[in-house]
Amino acid sequence: MLIRVPPLHPLRESDVTPEAVYRDRRRFLAGLGLAGAALAVPGLARAAVRQPAELAVGNRSELAGGEAVTDYETVSTYNNYYEFGTGKGEPARTAHTLRTRPWTVRVEGECAAPGTVDIEELLTGLEERIYRHRCVEAWSIVVPWVGFPLSRFLQRFRPTGNARYVAFETLYDPEQMPLTRSGVLDWPYREGLRIDEAMHPLAFLSVGMYGRVLPNQNGAPLRLTIPWKYGFKSIKSIVAIRFTERQPATTWQTMAPREYGFYANVNPEVDHPRWSQRRERRLGELWKRDTLMFNGYPEVAALYTGMDLKRYY
Ligand code: MTE
Repeated sequence: MLIRVPPLHPLRESDVTPEAVYRDRRRFLAGLGLAGAALAVPGLARAAVRQPAELAVGNRSELAGGEAVTDYETVSTYNNYYEFGTGKGEPARTAHTLRTRPWTVRVEGECAAPGTVDIEELLTGLEERIYRHRCVEAWSIVVPWVGFPLSRFLQRFRPTGNARYVAFETLYDPEQMPLTRSGVLDWPYREGLRIDEAMHPLAFLSVGMYGRVLPNQNGAPLRLTIPWKYGFKSIKSIVAIRFTERQPATTWQTMAPREYGFYANVNPEVDHPRWSQRRERRLGELWKRDTLMFNGYPEVAALYTGMDLKRYY
C-alpha cells in the first residue's frame, strides 16, 4: 500500500529550489513543464508549483552507509547533461526547454510483451534510495533518489531467453536540446547494461530526488540510476528501452573506446588513460577520499566473477 510520509529531509521550497530558479518563478515553472498553465491563472501559481513537484514515497532505504546527503542545490546545479551544454552549470540554466509532458517510454526488442508506457503510470508505488554516485571525472555525490527497481519495470515486458542486454536511449530533439545540433556527441545519447546487471536489486529508475520530481537537468522525467557504475551509465530523459541479444553500442564507448568501456564499473584499480581513479572529491567537501571498488557496493561483485575487470573496464 502506498503511504504518504513526510520527506526524510524536511525542506522548505526555498531549500529545495536553487536560489536562482525560485527567484525566477517563470523559469522554475517552465522546468516543471507548467509554465503556460500555471502562469495563465496567477492565483493558482503557488499551488501548481507545490502539488506536482512533490512525490508520494513509500519505502525508504539508506544505501550510502550513513554518509551525509549532498545538498539539493549542488546536485541540481552541477550536472553533466551534454544535450544542454558541456559546462557543469549549463544544464541548470538551459534545460528548461525540455518538455517532460506528455512523455512515453517505448519498450521493444527481445520480449514477449513490448509496449509503450506513459510516464504518469510510473508515478505510483515509489521508493526512496539514498545512493552514492561517482562520476568518471572523479567527483561524487550522495542523493536520495525516488523511483522504482529497474527489474520490476523490465519484468512487465517479459524478456525472452534471447534478451542478454538492455539498451537505453535518451530523447533526441534538436528543438528542445540545443547542443544536439552540434557534433559534440553521437546523438541520441545511448547506454546499455547486461541483463543480469539490469535485474540486480540495486539498479533503479528514478523519477525524482529529495521527495520531488526530477529537475530537467537531472534527467526528468525518467533516468537510470546505477550506483556501482560511473555516472555516465545513468542515462537521462529515457524514451526507449530495447532488449537485445548483442551488446548494444553506447555513446561514450563509441566516442572514445580507449577511455570509456561498456562496463564502466567504479574501479580504483583501473585508471582512466588521462587521470587516476583512486581518489574522488565529494562535492561540498574539501579533502579527497579514496574511491571504493564498485563505489562501495560489494554486493554486485558476483555479477563479474571470473571476468578480468582490467580488460572489461
Ligand atoms: N544522460 C544524457 N542523456 N546525457 C548526458 O550527457 N551525462 C552522464 C549521465 N547521464 C549524460 C547522461 C554523466 S557523464 C553523468 S556523471 C551523469 O549523467 C550526471 O548526472 P547528474 O547530473 O544528475 O549528477
